[in-house]
This record gives sequence, structure tokens and C-alpha cells, in this order.
Amino acid sequence: MKHLLKLMDLSKEEMGKILNLADQLKYEKKNGIKHHLLKGKTLGMIFRKSSTRTRVSFEVGMYDLGGTALFLSSHDLQIGRGEPVQDTARVLSRYLDGIMIRTFDQAEVESLAEYGSIPIINGLTDYCHPCQVLADLMTIREHKGLLSGKKLCYVGDGNNMANSLIVGGIKMGMSVSVACPNGYTPDSEIMKWASENGEFVCADDILAAAKDADAVYTDVWASMGQEGEAEARKEIFKEYQINASVMAAAKKDAMVLHCLPAHRGEEITADVLEAHAHEIFDEAENRLHAQKAVLVQCLGAKK
Ligand code: CP
Ligand code: NVA
Repeated sequence: MKHLLKLMDLSKEEMGKILNLADQLKYEKKNGIKHHLLKGKTLGMIFRKSSTRTRVSFEVGMYDLGGTALFLSSHDLQIGRGEPVQDTARVLSRYLDGIMIRTFDQAEVESLAEYGSIPIINGLTDYCHPCQVLADLMTIREHKGLLSGKKLCYVGDGNNMANSLIVGGIKMGMSVSVACPNGYTPDSEIMKWASENGEFVCADDILAAAKDADAVYTDVWASMGQEGEAEARKEIFKEYQINASVMAAAKKDAMVLHCLPAHRGEEITADVLEAHAHEIFDEAENRLHAQKAVLVQCLGAKK
């Protein structure tokens, strides 16, 4: 695997390999076993949007693996003043061993990969969030023992998270249901692919989507870049909340996931978030382990 641009590019086997390596790296970190698999390597991290988890987990991940990470805000790079991504890709390829980028347009990530000569990792675009979903799948497997045959329900905006969860869940043999308001459904090509390749349902009936789910997932109603729509979206999405009634429809032992940051009282109630905090913060922790596995696969000596 050279790049991680979107989960659709990965086979089930490649995803399984990342998840297994992530489990191993997590176990080893907890037991004080160090692996400097990326010794001497440098990752550039380009951010056009804010981040807590992605930035810190990639930076710590590179440190754990014996390498270095550079935080490159688009406010300070020439790319923020209009230098073309094609040129940025060719310049940074001469200095770095890999780039992680968080941006708006998926095409920008694809261009970096096309024009650069080093591995490119997608740290979130408006279209998808593959690193998050690898951590999510790792967390579900950790709590439920396996992925295949488990039901994943997503409630909320058909955004980058929904797109990647559908692809990741279906590829790993999960049944995926999404409940989104009309006009806010996930990418139509992804939904078509999901219906043809697995058990997938998209509807506006939240309780039907949540019925017997093993894992219930939500994300913010207004993503980064949609701040101007936030007030209007509060009205549109007001029913699309993970609360006690939604949890009552899911399996008794259903887990709750949220990529964070969370807006209590909007997409999730404070009670549900706190009752499932152990799962949600395991999920946040797993960003570190899953991304270390991605970094090793893309940048490194294979493990
Ligand atoms: N979930 C996630 O990607 O968090 P950050 O925006 O803090 O990186
Ligand atoms: N959908 C959210 C995810 C944040 C991790 C956003 O794009 O802002």
C-alpha cells in the first residue's frame, strides 16, 4: 500500500492487515515495547482545517516509530497563498518521506499523490475520513470480538464520516444502516456500491436504522467549512440524535461511537455520551494505534 487516499482503494485484506498491526502496536505500546520502524523518516502534516486528535495522534505516532512529524498549517505555507498543489507536491517530495493532509477537496489529496513521489495519507476531506474509520473498526472489533455480521448504524449527516463508515463497514462484512434527513444522504455512488456489495440500508427512519444495532455512530450536524449553515442545520437535524430512545432500539449491549468533537444536546445527548465514554475515548485512543499501522504500511519497513 503506497497511499491512503480513501478506503475504497483498499482491499478487505489490506484493511485487515492494518487492523491486526494496529492491535499489535497497541499491545506493544502498553507493554513498553518500542519499535522504531520509521527511524529517520519525516512526515509533513498539512492542515487546512482545525484538528486535535488527528494532529496529535500522527505527531505522537511518528515519535513512537522513531521518526519526526512537521506541522504545516496552510496559513503559513505558500499553498495558503495560492501556490499550486502540483508544485507543493513536487517540492515537499524532495524533503519528506510522507505527507498527511487535512483539507476540503478530495481532488487536492489525489493531486498530491499524482504529482508527488512520496506516500500521501488523507487526514480528512469533505468526502471522507479513512483514518478515523480504521480506528473505529479497530474499536468495534476490540469491544465486539469481530466485525463480520455485526450491525453498524449511523445517525445524522451523510457526510465524510458516513461515507467512510459505509465503505469500511461493508468491506469488513458488517451490515450498515444509515438514517439521514432527505437531501443530506451520503455520496450516491458510495451508497450504490454498498447496496451491490453488502447489506446496506439508507432511510430517514432512525429507530428502524438503529434496530438491533451492535454499534451506533453519530457525528456533528455541521462539519468544518459548514459553520454558516450551523443554525439552519439545527432545525433540519433535530430528530437525528443518539438518545435513550435510539439506544432502546439497538441491542442491549450496543456500543456508541463518535469521532469527536461532540456537541452534547445536538447529535448526541450528554447522558448517552457519558454512559458510553469508555468506548468513545477508546476510539479516540485508537486513532494513534491505527495510524501508526497506516504509517508503517505506507512509509516504512514492513512489520
Ligand atoms: N476525529 C477527528 O478527526 O478529530 P480532530 O478533528 O480533532 O482531528
Ligand atoms: N464531519 C466532521 C468530522 C470531524 C472529525 C467534520 O468534517 O468536521
